[in-house]
Amino acid sequence: MKKKIALIFGVTGQDGAYLSKFLLKKNYKVYGVKRRSSIINTSRIDDIYNDINSKSNFVLFYGDLTDSSSILSLIKKTKPDEIYNLAAQSHVQVSFEVPEYSAEVNSVGTLRILEAIKNLGLEKKVKFYQAGTSEMFGKTKEKFQNESTPFYPASPYGVSKVFAHWITVNYREAYKIFACNGVLFNHESPIRGETFVTKKIIQGLIRIKNGNQKKLFLGNLYSKRDWGHARDYVEAMWKMLQQKKPADYVIATGKTFTIKEFVNKAAKKIGFKIRWVGNGVNEKAIDIKNKKVIIECKKRYFRPVEVDYLKGNANKAKKLLKWFPKTSLDKLIDEMIRYELKFYNDKL
Ligand code: NAP
Ligand code: GDD
Repeated sequence: MKKKIALIFGVTGQDGAYLSKFLLKKNYKVYGVKRRSSIINTSRIDDIYNDINSKSNFVLFYGDLTDSSSILSLIKKTKPDEIYNLAAQSHVQVSFEVPEYSAEVNSVGTLRILEAIKNLGLEKKVKFYQAGTSEMFGKTKEKFQNESTPFYPASPYGVSKVFAHWITVNYREAYKIFACNGVLFNHESPIRGETFVTKKIIQGLIRIKNGNQKKLFLGNLYSKRDWGHARDYVEAMWKMLQQKKPADYVIATGKTFTIKEFVNKAAKKIGFKIRWVGNGVNEKAIDIKNKKVIIECKKRYFRPVEVDYLKGNANKAKKLLKWFPKTSLDKLIDEMIRYELKFYNDKL
């Protein structure tokens, strides 16, 4: 049987790495689009690249979502059956500092891929996945967010993704492209970017335990997030493109925790006994053993507008995709800690 071909924009990111591995196991030929950077940005996929068994089915090209000509020529050259658009300026706080660039990549970049599919006459051949986000719900008051919850984005990032969502729906309706939006809630893993809060907490606490760092500085401890594992979530992306009809799906665990609860769980697992004192930006965590302050809040990590509460209802995906989250928050934290400890031990 002819191998299916996937083209992944954002292959060097967390989800790009998990999705590549997932598709290679399913016997796909995977083309990945990486962007040029001044230092090597392929650390998350080097293991696939160096693996003799998958090497010939995993090919990387340079490209950029701000560059229409590279997008068009890559789609033309690779002739994919499925395109996954995972590329984005994905950091919410950074989007307040580079709003125009975030929109350029996240919104117009998505439009560029859809236009390329249309202009190459591939509307009937290519299936398209768009990486949507729970950040689009933003300041919603709904206790569980699902596919019918109205969007109320609260950052340039969130707004840029709302454009990408609706342009994907629009091209599906106007040109009959098999295009799906995955509205994914936060998903983490050992290879999560180091400035996202889960990785920052685990990395920081382990460094403090090992004596390589004195304090961990955080922002708002009281926002709530619905955290799943990236490995589980990339499977949902693929399942969406295997259905008879294109549609949009919320992917979430249905459980929500504050950042402080995450810190408490991680600290306990790493072997700290901590006590919280103070309020707001003056809140601190003290290591009970030596009375040292190990966590402080810093104003610079608070956002101009916060998304206070996210909790997803993935019933549609459970029913139609037969997709279920497999990894609990505790298991996720355990896996992230194990990886971090190994990383430091290997460096010693
Ligand atoms: P990530 O780790 O930040 O990866 C983003 C990817 O996009 C990287 O490969 C990055 O390249 C690439 N990229 C950035 N700007 C680009 C540009 N101008 N042209 C081409 N590629 C570009 O993000 P992730 O966590 O894997 O998330 C994947 C997608 O899902 C993103 O679109 C994100 O917004 C969305 N999402 C994520 C979550 C989550 O919780 N993880 C939840 C909902 C939605 P470099 O490696 O060179 O930086
Ligand atoms: N990054 C970060 N750093 N966040 C902090 C910190 C800190 O020092 N201290 C507190 N937080 C809070 C943020 O204010 C936010 O409420 C929460 O921790 C989670 O922040 P992030 O881990 O940066 O993730 P996010 O929820 O803003 O965005 C992620 O999830 C979205 C899906 O809901 C990203 O992966 C987005 O790309 C994704 O769309």
